[in-house]
Amino acid sequence: MADKFDLTGKAAIVTGAGRGIGRALALGLAGAGAKVVLAARSQAELEAVAAEIRDGGGETLVRVTDLTQSDQIEALVQAAVEAFGTVDIVINNAARSFLRSLMDLREDGFDKIFDTNVKGTFLLSRAAAKVMAGKGGGRIVNISTVGAVRGGAGMGAYHASKAAVKMLTMCMATEWAPFGIRVNAVGPGLTKTPFSEPIWSNPEVEKALTSRIPMGRLAEPEDIVGAVLFLCSSQADFITGQSLYVDGGTLANT
Ligand SMILES: NC(=O)c1ccc[n+]([C@@H]2O[C@H](COP(=O)([O-])OP(=O)(O)OC[C@H]3O[C@@H](n4cnc5c(N)ncnc54)[C@H](OP(=O)(O)O)[C@@H]3O)[C@@H](O)[C@H]2O)c1
Repeated sequence: MADKFDLTGKAAIVTGAGRGIGRALALGLAGAGAKVVLAARSQAELEAVAAEIRDGGGETLVRVTDLTQSDQIEALVQAAVEAFGTVDIVINNAARSFLRSLMDLREDGFDKIFDTNVKGTFLLSRAAAKVMAGKGGGRIVNISTVGAVRGGAGMGAYHASKAAVKMLTMCMATEWAPFGIRVNAVGPGLTKTPFSEPIWSNPEVEKALTSRIPMGRLAEPEDIVGAVLFLCSSQADFITGQSLYVDGGTLANT
């Protein structure tokens, strides 16, 4: 049974792999045997993750990429193909947000959120899908959030962008199933990373948030890894277009 989750020899791209959930996912994929291309803008963070993977005996490649730039996305896929021969797995994890009310959110802020979270996910998935389609298939996992299906104050454009990612997941899954490409999403609940630190770093706020999570704690980045590895594995071969929430019961309690 254990070998059915094995990803030995698979070539994976993980965006936002330098820290937080993306770092945990890159290490998890490498631990399952995948060769991992690490993408984000901060080279030093990516190099640190690459060193961890190599120390564990894994193969990896650092590719500095700004996902708001379509030429850099094309070059990322090209670099993966040159290094590892193909792209079998894409994890669209990179995202950004601003903690700001919709009345105060500037137009360029809205654009940055949608360019990174939605357009970047589309462009990278499309570029990789063209490679995957020629090789018999692949697996794409988009990192969503419980906020994709739940409103809230302070990050409205982010919620809207992730709702778009959820729908993009369903449409890509539908269009690309004939090519053997499965597309799913994993939606974390509030997770302790630099991204969400302004929220959970206040102990009183953390306590209030935790009180509404049935499992009684926030997620750690490592909590998200199992769901992603499952969806990348052959054990999920008939699953596509789905969103799997890893939230300690948050949505069940909404
Ligand atoms: N933390 C949470 O509570 C939480 C909850 C639900 C869902 N999520 C989702 O989980 C994913 C990871 O979040 P996280 O909390 O781990 O965030 P994080 O710690 O802020 O990491 C975000 C990553 O995205 C990269 N990134 C941002 N903009 C980019 C761009 N234009 N081009 C390339 N890379 C870019 C960042 O690297 P550079 O800045 O170096 O480019 C960084 O590596 C996101 O999709 C987020 O929406 C997080």
